[in-house]
Amino acid sequence: MHRSILSTLALFAGACTAHFHLNYPEPRGVFVGDKEPSFCGGYTEVTTNRSTFPLSGGFFRIQQAHPNWSAAVLISTEQDPNSFDAFNGTNGQQFARYWAKADFPGQFCIPLDLSNTNITGVRDGANVTIQIAVTGGDGNLYQCADLTLAENFTFTQALNDTCTNTTASTTSTAGSTSPTSGSGASRVTSLQLSGYVVLLSALGAAMML
Ligand SMILES: *[C@@H]1O[C@H](CO)[C@@H](O)[C@H](O)[C@H]1NC(C)=O
Ligand SMILES: *[C@@H]1O[C@H](CO)[C@@H](O)[C@H](O)[C@H]1NC(C)=O
Ligand SMILES: *[C@@H]1O[C@H](CO)[C@@H](O)[C@H](O)[C@H]1NC(C)=O
Ligand SMILES: *[C@@H]1O[C@H](CO)[C@@H](O)[C@H](O)[C@H]1NC(C)=O
Ligand SMILES: *[C@@H]1O[C@H](CO)[C@@H](O)[C@H](O)[C@H]1NC(C)=O
Ligand SMILES: *[C@@H]1O[C@H](CO)[C@@H](O)[C@H](O)[C@H]1NC(C)=O
Ligand SMILES: *[C@@H]1O[C@H](CO)[C@@H](O)[C@H](O)[C@H]1NC(C)=O
Ligand SMILES: *[C@@H]1O[C@H](CO)[C@@H](O)[C@H](O)[C@H]1NC(C)=O
Repeated sequence: MHRSILSTLALFAGACTAHFHLNYPEPRGVFVGDKEPSFCGGYTEVTTNRSTFPLSGGFFRIQQAHPNWSAAVLISTEQDPNSFDAFNGTNGQQFARYWAKADFPGQFCIPLDLSNTNITGVRDGANVTIQIAVTGGDGNLYQCADLTLAENFTFTQALNDTCTNTTASTTSTAGSTSPTSGSGASRVTSLQLSGYVVLLSALGAAMML
């Protein structure tokens, strides 16, 4: 709570080095802006205190400081995924979901239904790692979260209440910011494919460096 208030303030202050923050589920380590263009935002090793995450009906929440961004989720079923290659399936990068996007900055709650991926090893009780990849004006950025999947996971009311979309103004004047709440109830579960090919190749090119 404390942390999310702080990062909200940073966003409203128009911090241009803010990149994006993964607010839920909890990332591998504290945010380091300079490291965000690197694999897992600079945290190469798996954490041992994994978050329990629902096998179906999940979501992740990011705070994005730039307009015109897209976010996708890579998934690894390895116990210690410590390179981009560990997030490959049989046909290259293994996506848990394709691109969600918006023209404006703000806080976004994005559906992530892992049971729909049909990826071998993504099942009840499995340890997996998700890598959120965001592209939007400041290169390709990454944050990872180490998870244990649970079929019987239920979101608390408090966690559900955080699942809203909030628009932030792009101007640097804090006073002109007018947040508007999105509908927390309408958790869309469909894949958003538009722009996927172009952005995927941009992401792929960056990964080859
Ligand atoms: C999942 O990871 C935890 C450590 O984070 C480990 O104790 C546990 O044995 C792992 N479970 C499986 C099924 O590998
Ligand atoms: C894991 O442990 C670290 C160090 O105690 C803590 O900062 C972090 O919040 C924990 N992460 C999770 C997902 O519980
Ligand atoms: C974001 O995209 C919209 C339309 O797609 C465009 O009108 C706007 O200029 C873009 N903003 C930036 C900062 O690129
Ligand atoms: C992983 O996938 C990427 C993108 O499809 C590809 O460039 C890379 O060579 C793959 N790595 C391995 C070890 O297969
Ligand atoms: C928030 O916006 C993202 C990106 O447009 C979208 O994928 C998601 O479904 C929205 N979430 C809610 C709770 O409306
Ligand atoms: C997963 O499998 C189901 C049933 O075969 C299918 O309807 C669905 O489209 C598949 N999902 C993906 C993402 O391939
Ligand atoms: C969920 O299932 C696990 C393992 O099957 C069990 O240990 C745990 O108590 C269950 N949790 C809830 C909330 O039912
Ligand atoms: C949280 O939201 C999910 C999905 O809409 C719902 O199934 C669940 O009952 C909600 N939890 C609470 C405590 O209301």
